[in-house]
Amino acid sequence: MASLYEQVTFDEVHRQVLHLIPTEPVRVLDIGAGTGRDAAALSARGHTVVAVEPSEEFRTIGRQAHPGHNIRWVDDRLPELSTVARQHQPFKLVMLTAVWMFLHEEERHRAMSRIHGLLEDGGRLGMVTRIGPVPTERGMYPVSAAETVSLAADRSLSLIHASTQTDSLGRADVIWSNLFFEKPAVPTSHEAG
Ligand SMILES: C[S@@+](CC[C@H](N)C(=O)[O-])C[C@H]1O[C@@H](n2cnc3c(N)ncnc32)[C@H](O)[C@@H]1O
Repeated sequence: MASLYEQVTFDEVHRQVLHLIPTEPVRVLDIGAGTGRDAAALSARGHTVVAVEPSEEFRTIGRQAHPGHNIRWVDDRLPELSTVARQHQPFKLVMLTAVWMFLHEEERHRAMSRIHGLLEDGGRLGMVTRIGPVPTERGMYPVSAAETVSLAADRSLSLIHASTQTDSLGRADVIWSNLFFEKPAVPTSHEAG
């Protein structure tokens, strides 16, 4: 699996949303970072990256595969993300790539609340989610873009991008949903009058 994750690049996986990634250096949380492909690319763009990954094996491979990057690896998992939440440091960008379908419905509700709480005002959430036939033997659950948009909307996260793309690894039956959300910015005291 690790070599599969590294077969594609950040630019390929996120090609439809690259314009939504902040260009100025920000704090980024990559949840379910796998072997760190995206964490390393985001770090190379100048961001400070926290990579959450529950698999010790993937964390070890990620550290070895991407040395010299400004990535802090954390052993944590959705829906609680208890270690990250305890640090009370919000993020401008949260990325969740090929992870959402590993959570069952009740976990997805709690996970969206937790992610909302970890976003800065004006921060963005980027999600890439597998849509279509689900290999349940791999611990995946069916998810839909509509459900994800609704969960986000319930927490006042505005949808700013929705698209689908074919599988970068060439699997004909796999489609990926790209969604980007934004948390409202709090009005400045000037705007509030
Ligand atoms: C298909 S891989 C994607 C890895 C990486 N984001 C990428 O795009 O290459 C799914 C990752 O999600 C992690 N994962 C599974 N369940 C998780 C959970 N509840 N919370 C956080 N990460 C989880 C797995 O350990 C695995 O690294």
